[in-house]
Amino acid sequence: MQQVNSSLTMKLITFIAIFLMIINMATCVSLNNHHPVTSHVNNDINYHQVIFDYMKDRSNENFKYQLLNSVDIPNTAKFYVFNMTSVKWLTNKEVSRSEWYHFVEIVVPYQITQTKQALMLIAGGSSNSQVPTLDKELIQMGVLTKSIVCTIHQIPNQPLTFLSDPEKKSRVEDAILAFAWARFMNLTQENDELKSNTEWIPRLPMVKSTLFAMDLVQEYLLKNLNIKVEDFHVAGASKRGWTTNLVGVVDQRVKSIIPIVIPIWKTREVLEHTYNSLCFWPEAMGDYVREGIINRLNSKEFKLLADVIDPFEYNDILAGKFKYFVNAVGDQFFVPELSQFSYPFIKGSDERKHLRYIPNADHSMAGSDAELTILAYYYCLINNISLPIYNFNLKSDSLLTVNIVKNILPIKSILLWEAFAPNRDFRQQTIGNVWKSRDISTNYNAQTCQISVNLNNPPSGQFYAAFVELTFDLGGAIYLKFTTSVYILPNVLPCHYSDI
Ligand SMILES: *[C@@H]1O[C@H](CO)[C@@H](O)[C@H](O)[C@H]1NC(C)=O
Ligand SMILES: *[C@@H]1O[C@H](CO)[C@@H](O)[C@H](O)[C@H]1NC(C)=O
Ligand SMILES: *[C@@H]1O[C@H](CO)[C@@H](O)[C@H](O)[C@H]1NC(C)=O
Repeated sequence: MQQVNSSLTMKLITFIAIFLMIINMATCVSLNNHHPVTSHVNNDINYHQVIFDYMKDRSNENFKYQLLNSVDIPNTAKFYVFNMTSVKWLTNKEVSRSEWYHFVEIVVPYQITQTKQALMLIAGGSSNSQVPTLDKELIQMGVLTKSIVCTIHQIPNQPLTFLSDPEKKSRVEDAILAFAWARFMNLTQENDELKSNTEWIPRLPMVKSTLFAMDLVQEYLLKNLNIKVEDFHVAGASKRGWTTNLVGVVDQRVKSIIPIVIPIWKTREVLEHTYNSLCFWPEAMGDYVREGIINRLNSKEFKLLADVIDPFEYNDILAGKFKYFVNAVGDQFFVPELSQFSYPFIKGSDERKHLRYIPNADHSMAGSDAELTILAYYYCLINNISLPIYNFNLKSDSLLTVNIVKNILPIKSILLWEAFAPNRDFRQQTIGNVWKSRDISTNYNAQTCQISVNLNNPPSGQFYAAFVELTFDLGGAIYLKFTTSVYILPNVLPCHYSDI
C-alpha cells in the first residue's frame, strides 16, 4: 500500500526483533466453596448501570499528576513520564493502601502524521517499580506509527493486602481479583448495599484510572505542545485486556479496542466450556479456585458480577467501536475455541470486528508477531486504510467457509493451521508447539471471494483443531493477520460443569 511508506517498513523489519511485550502476562479468571443458592439479592437494581455511575462519581478520585522525567531525543521523539494519582479504591479499613498511582508515559515522535488520535496501552507492574527512564519499545512504536503512543502502568495497583483476609497475604494480579470478586459475591448475598458492594469490583478502578490517563495526555499535550488529541485506540493483555473492553464501553473518546489474550465475552459460558473441555480447572486459574469462585458460576451473585464486567453485556455499545481480538491458541487459561461463544453474536458491522488466533503461542505470546500485527491494525485505523472485511462459519460440522466481503489489499497467504491432541486440551503447556500450517490458497475462489476447506474428523481417540489464517500485505514487511475462530473435532465435550 502506498499509504505505508517504505522507510517505516524498513524500520519495522529492523525493530520488530527487539519489540518487547509491554504488557505483563499473568492473569485472569475464575475459581471452591459451595454457597447456599438462596441469596439476598435485590432484583430491582440495575447492575448494568453500575459502571457508568462509577465513572461519573467524583467522590473517590484524586486526579493529579507530576512530570517526573522528560527526555528529548533529537529528530526522534520526546518522551515524558508522569506520576499520576487516580482513584481511591476501598478505604484504609479494607485495604492496605487505597490511593492508586501510576506511571504514565507519553511518546511524541518528531515525524508525526496523526496528532488527533493516540494509542493508549494498559500495562501492569508494581507500585514499587522504579521510575521508567527511557522506554525504548514505546519510542519505537511512536516512531514507526508516526503517532502519539502512551502507556499507563500499575493496573491494578499492587501489591495490596486486604484487612479482612485471614492470611493477610500480600497480593498481586489474580490473587487481588479473585479475593475481591469473592468479597463482592459474599456481600451481595448478604445485603443490598449496591454502592459499597460493587466498590469491591476491581475492574472499576482499573477502568477509571485509564480514563484519567487519557485526561492527562489530552491536558498536558494541549497545554505544553498545543497538540489536541481527540480519540484513543486502547490495547492491553490479559486483565488489562479485560479492562480495555470496558474502557471502550464507558468512554466516547475510544475509537478502537484491542483486547489481547482475554476471550471472556460471555464470561460464565466460556469458563464452563473451559471446564467441560479439560475436566479440570487450568492451573493458571488457581486463585479463582482457591477463592471459591469457580463453584459459583451459576449463582445469582456471579450473574450480577458478570452484569457489571462481562463485555458481552455491553454488546450494543461496543457495536460502534472497532474491535481487534488477539488470542493465543495455546493460552494456559483458555481453551482455543472460546471466540465461538461471542464473535458471531457481536453486533455492528463486520467492518468493525476482527479476530486473530496465534498458533504455537501461550498467554505471554512470547516469540509471536502479535505486536507487529497490532501496530499494523492501529496504523490502518489512524491512516484511513480500509481494513479487509471478512466473516466465516462452519457448515455441517466440517466445512469451514471464509467470505472476504471487501478487501483492497493484496492477500499474502491463506493458511490452514492444524493440530492433534490426545485430549481436548490444546494448551501449549500440555502439547507444546504442535501446530502446523498448510497453504490453502488454491481453495480461494476469486469469483465468489470465498475460501472453503473441509475439516476431517481425527482418528478415534484423538482431537483435531483447525483455523484459517489470512495475511494481508501492507507493503514491505508490514502485514495484517486475521483468522477464523478455532474449531475442534469431534465436537464432543468430555465433561459437564453442572456435574461437579
Ligand atoms: C507517586 O505518587 C504517590 C502518591 O502521591 C507517592 O506515594 C509516590 O511516592 C510517588 N512516586 C514517585 C516516584 O514520585
Ligand atoms: C466468602 O464466603 C465464604 C463462605 O462463608 C468464605 O469461606 C470466604 O472466605 C469468603 N470470602 C471472602 C473474600 O470474604
Ligand atoms: C481520515 O478520514 C477522516 C474523515 O474522512 C479525515 O478527517 C482525516 O483527516 C483522515 N485522516 C488521514 C490521516 O488521512
